[in-house]
Amino acid sequence: MILVTGGTGLVGAHLLYHLSLENDSVKAIHRKNSDLQAVKNVFSYYSEDFEALFKKIEWIEADITDIFLLEKAFENVTEVYHSAALISFNPKDYKVMRKVNIEGTSNIVNLCIDKKVKKLCFVSSIATIEKAVNNKIIDEDCEWNTESNNYGYAITKYGAEMEVWRASQEGVEVVIVNPGVILGAGFWNNGGPGELFTKIYNGLKFYTEGVTAFVSVTDVVKTMIQLMNSNLKNERYILVSENVSFKEVFFKIADDFGKKRPSIKVTKLMSSIGWRLEKIKSSLTGKQPVLTKQSSKSIHQKYFYSSEKIEKALDFKFEPVSETIKNVCELYKR
Ligand SMILES: NC(=O)c1ccc[n+]([C@@H]2O[C@H](COP(=O)([O-])OP(=O)(O)OC[C@H]3O[C@@H](n4cnc5c(N)ncnc54)[C@H](OP(=O)(O)O)[C@@H]3O)[C@@H](O)[C@H]2O)c1
Repeated sequence: MILVTGGTGLVGAHLLYHLSLENDSVKAIHRKNSDLQAVKNVFSYYSEDFEALFKKIEWIEADITDIFLLEKAFENVTEVYHSAALISFNPKDYKVMRKVNIEGTSNIVNLCIDKKVKKLCFVSSIATIEKAVNNKIIDEDCEWNTESNNYGYAITKYGAEMEVWRASQEGVEVVIVNPGVILGAGFWNNGGPGELFTKIYNGLKFYTEGVTAFVSVTDVVKTMIQLMNSNLKNERYILVSENVSFKEVFFKIADDFGKKRPSIKVTKLMSSIGWRLEKIKSSLTGKQPVLTKQSSKSIHQKYFYSSEKIEKALDFKFEPVSETIKNVCELYKR
């Protein structure tokens, strides 16, 4: 029996769809207020038989920070895909991110050990991999540096990875994936990458020339399933299709929508003023800031990641970013 956490998010919903094609025994946890309809919407993008596939999933109400509820979900489970996390660049969310991302993963790990789960796949992030300077290519061997990786999300995802390595020491086979920015269909308004499509469709004006790694959600879940079905264990793998500038990605999305390209290049000065204004606005309105100190820096940085390790290990070929954008834009318009 397979258990999935984070099944009501972008990655988890796509993972559940792909698992439901091949398996009859899949469980997923959801919270009281999770939007299961959004998951069904994702299924409907890919199959006419989506209702039947969706019905194959056994949903159990649980929160990864509540070990008692979680324990029930672990009955008869042999494989776990752990995708649930809180993603935020707002320093105010640091404490709650520690709770969800580190303590939540610790709970998953403890139950995997206790219930003798055979294999655990953890969705981490490229945020936990040390950034190489001078345009050098970043790979899995670039070791974490506390001095440079000091923002909340990265710290908590790194802390979660440490918990997962603990599972490997206790006899659970583990694989960790470290995706770049994940592009995929659905969740168009939840603050994640799906919202980028909505913003550009609605006429976003700004872009930057920062570079980072992008990957399609379909490739993320396909590699996760292949890793779980392989003999590979106790390794982590960067998942990246291409390293592309935000400018190229934004322009391509606008072109595929037939909309005007963003026309204002955000300079470092503009973003450093922007995050301060957003901070004031957020303290007055209580709304999440659109830009934070951390994100205002990262949108200008240029990082290049290598996915050679996973490509060799699974003989895997990633979908080009332009192809992913074309497919997601089509699904958005539909
Ligand atoms: N999106 C990206 O570009 C990206 C890039 C690299 C790595 N990642 C990693 O990929 C994973 C999935 O990301 P995503 O984009 O799918 O995120 P997402 O759409 O924001 O989904 C997050 C999921 O986590 C669940 N969750 C949050 N707190 C929880 C809790 N306390 N107990 C149980 N479930 C909880 C959410 O459930 P509710 O529906 O109840 O809120 C939701 O299912 C994360 O681990 C993230 O760090 C994402």
